[in-house]
Amino acid sequence: MTYTYFNPTVIEFGEGKIKSITKYIDKNLKVLVVYGGGSIKKNGVFEQVSKALEGYTWFEFGGVEPNPSVETLNKAVALIKEKNIDFVLAVGGGSVIDGSKYLVASAVYDGDGWDFLEGKTIEKALPLGAILTIPATGSESNGTAVISKKSTNEKRYFGSSLTYPKFAVLDPTIMSSLDDRQLANGLVDAFVHTCEQYLTYPNTSLLHDGYAHTILRGLHNLSLNWKDRKTLVWQENLMLLANQALNGFIGSGVPQDWATHMIGHEITAFYGLDHARSLAVVQPHLLRVMMEDKKDKLTLMGKEVFDMPHNYEMVVEAIEYMYKSIGVSTKLKDYDVDDKVIENITGALKKHGMTAIGERGNLTLDKVEKILKMSL
Ligand code: NZQ
Ligand code: ZN
Repeated sequence: MTYTYFNPTVIEFGEGKIKSITKYIDKNLKVLVVYGGGSIKKNGVFEQVSKALEGYTWFEFGGVEPNPSVETLNKAVALIKEKNIDFVLAVGGGSVIDGSKYLVASAVYDGDGWDFLEGKTIEKALPLGAILTIPATGSESNGTAVISKKSTNEKRYFGSSLTYPKFAVLDPTIMSSLDDRQLANGLVDAFVHTCEQYLTYPNTSLLHDGYAHTILRGLHNLSLNWKDRKTLVWQENLMLLANQALNGFIGSGVPQDWATHMIGHEITAFYGLDHARSLAVVQPHLLRVMMEDKKDKLTLMGKEVFDMPHNYEMVVEAIEYMYKSIGVSTKLKDYDVDDKVIENITGALKKHGMTAIGERGNLTLDKVEKILKMSL
């Protein structure tokens, strides 16, 4: 096995950690605080950030929407240039943090920032810090950003070692204002992230699989204890697990899939489903279609996570049951999709060059069509 593992993000975990941000932002830097639709102004987070930034020169940019768009973000790029901002502080979930990664790269680039979503390499970026308000994506400690372009119904991603946050504050008490929908989304997204780096074909590392089992078992456990979701212990565990699910380690050196995400992103781009829900309508059906390729790992997962050895088909049922038990549908019919859904999604995958995806590159568009038909 060979791999390079790189993760420079300092994690500040625990209650009251917002004030620690001053350790990482020099006093003479001009800061832009970026946030979403306003939840931070209602739950006390904005006040804590303002207090921590006393004595700094700082500005704010709010209104980054879930599934952040270039249309909105380009306004913040203009603000960064106008005010000569030196440091971007993202305060929010995956959308705000991903959006801020786009900002730090685009603000010091002469061309159109969308170029990065079309494969251009990021050569420089402003420094970025993150205060996480919803655990789900792992964006707080990875270098990936998923950005949408509303005008063309596109949702694409880039990854760069230059866009990792310098630090990430993970204070689980901030989660108390999250509703059930967002808590369930976080659990499902983190579960699928782990599966994308685990449910492939057998590898020889006991460490990577063992770590993935711990994350999957933990998340499954949280679903079984859904009634406790308003407690700090439950929420703290979701924050810990979601962070580790996508900070890059469990996927390093082992086969990875990501087909559920590639299909899910296209569904969100056209129909606006929450990211996690776009995954839940794809993954169980994808696992059924790709069962032959994935049965060894499904068998292992059954034994290690769901306590059902030797019955790999039942493992997919268990995953589906788990999502439904926390209120997340696995069927497209529960969302506002039209009769063009299959055509739109396969067409978009084709346009983006994703005609042979999955860990073996054998998940072709005819299989995507089959998966989506099963989801209808
Ligand atoms: O915008 P505000 O008002 O803050 O409300 C948000 C938003 O409506 C709300 N929220 C967040 N923290 C809250 C809160 N409400 C009350 N109390 C709080 N403490 O939650 C809603 C959803 O927020 P969002 O940031 O969109 O959620 P999430 O963290 O699930 O991020 C989803 C985005 O991340 C991308 C997704 O595609 C999607 O665009 N992803 C990023 C990845 C990465 N960078 O590695 C990987 C993922 O697979 C994913 O693709
Ligand atoms: Zn995800």
